[in-house]
Formats: sequence, structure tokens, C-alpha cells
Amino acid sequence: MNPSPPISLLFLLLLPCIFMVSDAQSKHAHHPPQFSPQDTDDALSFSHYEERCPHFEEIVHKKVNQWFKKDYTLAAALIRLHFHDCSVRGCDASILLKHGGSERAAKASESLRGFNVIDDIKVEVEKKCPRTVSCADILTAAARDATVMVGGPFWEVPYGRRDGRVSLAKEADVVPMGRENVTYLIEFFQARGLNLLDLVILSGSHTIGRSTCGSLQSRLYNFTGTGKPDRTMNPKYLNYLRRKCRWASEHVDLDGTTPKKFDSTYYTNLQKKMGLLSTDQLLYSDSRTAPLVAAMASQPTLFYQQFAVSMTNLGNVQVLTGDDEGEIRNNCNYVNR
Ligand code: HEM
Ligand SMILES: *[C@@H]1O[C@H](CO)[C@@H](O)[C@H](O)[C@H]1NC(C)=O
Ligand SMILES: *[C@@H]1O[C@H](CO)[C@@H](O)[C@H](O)[C@H]1NC(C)=O
Repeated sequence: MNPSPPISLLFLLLLPCIFMVSDAQSKHAHHPPQFSPQDTDDALSFSHYEERCPHFEEIVHKKVNQWFKKDYTLAAALIRLHFHDCSVRGCDASILLKHGGSERAAKASESLRGFNVIDDIKVEVEKKCPRTVSCADILTAAARDATVMVGGPFWEVPYGRRDGRVSLAKEADVVPMGRENVTYLIEFFQARGLNLLDLVILSGSHTIGRSTCGSLQSRLYNFTGTGKPDRTMNPKYLNYLRRKCRWASEHVDLDGTTPKKFDSTYYTNLQKKMGLLSTDQLLYSDSRTAPLVAAMASQPTLFYQQFAVSMTNLGNVQVLTGDDEGEIRNNCNYVNR
């Protein structure tokens, strides 16, 4: 792992332009242009459902909105579910499969939620456009709409992902769970075509949502086997969390300041040593990620804009396209017979 070169302040001010441009260019370098007539089935496209299922996005939006009104915590759950899906075998809805020994049964998937929202959307979509819309596209669209609902940015999602037929629990256990070092995180993202900026930006999803206390137990009491708590944590925050976390199954907010709002306080929290997970706090202290954390803390709009770009990058990870790859699942929980 090569440390990234030092980044000047001027460069950071230009970040949104540079990365948006480089992102668009890299996509064209890897895939044929998106709207050329001959590649309708081997690349994601913004017009994929225009004729196949014109009301697809409307249905997703309506359903996510309905569920969100009943339980706002589902927004965070859907965003995380999308991340866990794309992390293993790409964004192919493999996380949704329910057969024995699938990703969903892995330790790393234990606290994932929102499956019923996807099932509900799928039923509605099947009524309007049978066997047309993939579960992977539904999950990607739902994560985008969930982001908007908590006050995050909107972005156009290209569609045409197909659903995978393979899902293995042991592959899901490489998804980071909060105790890894930054090198692991960088390499994990890099292996999926995501860069350092994507890592810092997408970790900013922890501006909403919650964690089970089990994920931070060692930080509170016995960090790396020292018999002492993690010294990098703000002492008042540590006391608060120790009181709040009597049981490993209880929940705490990932953003200790504004837990329901999509904003950049995730990054300012890190500056106050109030990152909940050890992996959150390490982004602030590691020399490779620290300049990016500082940039997001001081320029909220930069975070907001780049989040849309990095989520687009996440949604494009190792997607299955083309008629010979994967399938359009009839039920998101099971592969077709
Ligand atoms: C960088 C490495 C990451 C680590 C180590 C990590 C770790 C975690 C952990 C441990 C939890 C709490 C699980 C529990 O105990 O209940 C969590 C929750 C969450 N994560 Fe991450 N995560 C990472 C990246 C991401 C990314 C890239 C996204 C989205 C794009 C994301 C979105 C979320 C959300 C929204 C929640 C809250 C879920 C809820 O409220 O149900 N995380 N993450
Ligand atoms: C980071 O974690 C990986 C995997 O857990 C481990 O192999 C590696 O030695 C660690 N690196 C550092 C610098 O601690
Ligand atoms: C802390 O963890 C280490 C290693 O995991 C263990 O050997 C030790 O007994 C623990 N200490 C306490 C006080 O629980």
C-alpha cells in the first residue's frame, strides 16, 4: 500500500470538479459509451427501464417513502444493505438470498435490516412489469431514495444490473465490521475499484443510523487486549457509551451529535474524538485519510456533492450486465428454478 501524496488545500478546494471529471472519464474508459445503440445489454444505462418499466422509479420512491414514514431508521438500513451487497460479488443482490450458508447468514450480516422493504417493492414492481426489474436495481434505487429522505443528495442511477445466483457466507465475512486497520479498509475498497476518497466519503454514511453495542464493546472496556478502553475516545463520550451500552444487543447512534440528519458532523465528531467505531476514528488519525476528513469537516457542500459521486461508484461495482450473466430474479430471496 503506497501512502497517498500530500494533498494541498488548493487541491481540496478543487476536489469536486477533479473527481467528478475523472470519474466520468474512467467509466468511459472501461465501458463503451452508454447510449450507443449496439450496447443496450452490456452496460448500465439511464434509459434501461424507460420503455421496459416506465413507472419503476416512481414505485420505489413511493414504497421507500411509505416505509420511512413508519420507521425512519429503515433509511440507514437500506443504505447499509446496498453497501454490503456491492461489497461481495458486486451489486448483484446476492446479500438478499436466503438459502442456507448464503451471505445473509454470515456474522457480518447479522444486524442488516430492510429486507422486507425490498421484498415489498419487488412484489409491487412484479405486478406492473413482470420479470423485468432486477433485485439489484431495486436495492440501488432504494438506497438512493433513502439518502434523499434523510436529507442527502439526489443522483441519477443507471440501471441494468442483473441478479447473481451465487451467495456464500464466508465471502461476506470479509466486509469490515469496525475493528480493522485503515490499510485493510483502503485495500478492501481498492479491490472493488473504490479509492481513498470513496472510503472517506462513504464512511460518512455513518452520519445516520445506529450500531449494536457489540460492535464497540472492546473499545469501551478492553481495547486490543490491553484491559483498558480505547484512549483515542473522548472521555465524556466514553462514559456516555458505557452507560448506554449495558447489553451487547442495545443500540447507539453512529453520529453522536445529529443522528437523524444527513450532514457533515460525522467528520467534525471525529475531530472531537467522538467517532463511534474504531474504524471511524482511525480515518481522522491516519495520515492517508486525515486530509480528506479535514476537508469534509470544513466544507459540508463538498461532502454532500461527492457523496452522490461515490455512491454512484459504489453502485457500479462489479455489476452483472448482458443476457448471459445472472438473471432477473422472480423473488429477491431465492434464485430462479
Ligand atoms: C469503511 C468501512 C465500514 C465499516 C468498518 C463499517 C462498519 C459498520 C458497523 C460496525 C455498523 C453497525 C453494525 C451493528 O453493529 O449494528 C455500521 C452501520 C452502518 N453502516 Fe457502515 N461500515 C463501513 C462502511 C460503510 C459504507 C461504505 C456505508 C454506505 C455506503 C455504510 C453505511 C452504514 C449505515 C447506514 C449504517 C447504519 C445501519 C443501521 O442503522 O441499521 N457503512 N457500519
Ligand atoms: C492490518 O490488518 C491486517 C488484517 O487484519 C493485518 O494483516 C495487518 O498486519 C494489519 N496492518 C497493520 C499495519 O497493523
Ligand atoms: C482483554 O483481552 C485480552 C485478549 O483478548 C484477554 O486476554 C484479557 O483477559 C482481557 N482482559 C480483561 C480485563 O477482560
